[in-house]
Amino acid sequence: MKHLLLYCRPGFEGECAQEIEARAAEREVFGFARLKGNTGYVLFECYQESDSAKLLNQLPVSKLIFARQMLRVAPQVLDMSTEDRLNPLYMAAAEDLPECGRLWVETPDTNEGKELNRLCRSIATPMKAFFKKAGKLTAKENDDKPVLHVCFTGTDSAFIGYSQPKNHYPHLMGIMRLKFPKDAPSRSTLKLEEAFHYFLSKTQREKRMESGMNAVDLGAAPGGWTYQLVQKGMMVSAIDNGPMDQKLMDTGQVKHVRDDGFKWLPKKRNVHWLVCDMIESPKRVANLMCDWFIGDWCVEAIFNLKLPVKRRFHTVEECLEIIYERLDEAGVPYRLAAKHLYYDREEITVHLSRK
Ligand SMILES: C[S@@+](CC[C@H](N)C(=O)[O-])C[C@H]1O[C@@H](n2cnc3c(N)ncnc32)[C@H](O)[C@@H]1O
Repeated sequence: MKHLLLYCRPGFEGECAQEIEARAAEREVFGFARLKGNTGYVLFECYQESDSAKLLNQLPVSKLIFARQMLRVAPQVLDMSTEDRLNPLYMAAAEDLPECGRLWVETPDTNEGKELNRLCRSIATPMKAFFKKAGKLTAKENDDKPVLHVCFTGTDSAFIGYSQPKNHYPHLMGIMRLKFPKDAPSRSTLKLEEAFHYFLSKTQREKRMESGMNAVDLGAAPGGWTYQLVQKGMMVSAIDNGPMDQKLMDTGQVKHVRDDGFKWLPKKRNVHWLVCDMIESPKRVANLMCDWFIGDWCVEAIFNLKLPVKRRFHTVEECLEIIYERLDEAGVPYRLAAKHLYYDREEITVHLSRK
C-alpha cells in the first residue's frame, strides 16, 4: 500500500493535493498527488511503500487544512462484478490490512457519491461478516484499533484501506453533520457550531464557553454566529452595519454596534471569545486578529479566512505566515489550528488561542 487517500470538499482537490505534497516533503516523504476535479478526493502516491505508513502515523490529519480524512489504501479496485464485490476488495488489500475495530462504508462527498448511498447501506452488513470471517475485523467494535474504510467511487469501483484511530477524524466520510437549529437567524450558524466541536473537546467547551463570558462578533449580521454564543449564555457585542435578528436582540444578551469591525475595540479587556465572519480580504482579517492578540483584547478567536478564486492554498499559507510572524515577534504565546470545515464553502476556519 503506497497510496494515501484524502477526502476533501469537491472543487478543492487542487488545494488538498498541494498541501499533502508540501506536508509530506517537510517530512522527507516524496511522491505525487493524482487528482480529478470535483471528485472529492485526492490520491497521494509515495515513491516508497513504507512512506505511506510513515505519513499515516506521523502526519497529524489535524495539520491538514483541506483534507477531511486520511487513509492508507490499496490501488483503486475497478470493474468489480455486481455479483461479488467482497472478494476483489479483500484480495486488493489483504496483505497490508491490519485487524480493524470498525468498518466504515463511504463515498466521496459528491452527487455521484450520494447515488451510491443505497449500495453502501445494503453492502455494509455482509461486508462486516465477510471481513470478520477473514480476520480483518474484530468480533466486537473496538475504537482502539484502526478503522477499515471502503470508499465506493462507483457501483463497480472502490478504494479499500484503513485509518489510525489516534489520527483520524472520527466521523463517517470525515463529516460531522449538524442539525440546523430552527430559531437560528442564518445557516452560517452551523459553521461556528462545527468549529466549536472541531477545535475544542467536550471538556474544553465546558470550561471555555461559560455562561456570562463576554464575546465579540465582528461582521455579525443577521446573527447566526451570535446565536451560538448567546446559546452558551454569553454576552455578545455584535459589530455590523447590517440589521440583527430581533429575537436575538430580545434575549438581552446582545449589544448591536453599527461600526466598522476593523476599527471598533471594546472599552475593557474582558473579552474571552472573538469571532469574525466578515467578508473581507483574508490578509486584512489575519492582521486584524493579530492586532487583537497583540493588544491583549481577547483570549480566543475563531475566524474565517475567505478564499480568493485563484491561489487559494498560497493565500492560506501567506495568511498563516502573517500570524506566525507577527505573534512570534510580539512574543505572544498562542496555539493555532485551521480547517476547511464541512459547513465552510469558499473559506477556511481558524482557531487561535492564547496559551
Ligand atoms: C457572511 S456575513 C456574516 C454572517 C453571520 N456570521 C451570521 O452567521 O449570520 C458577513 C457580514 O460581515 C459584515 N461586514 C463586512 N465588512 C464589515 C466591516 N468592515 N465591519 C463590520 N461588518 C462588516 C457584513 O455587513 C455582513 O453582515
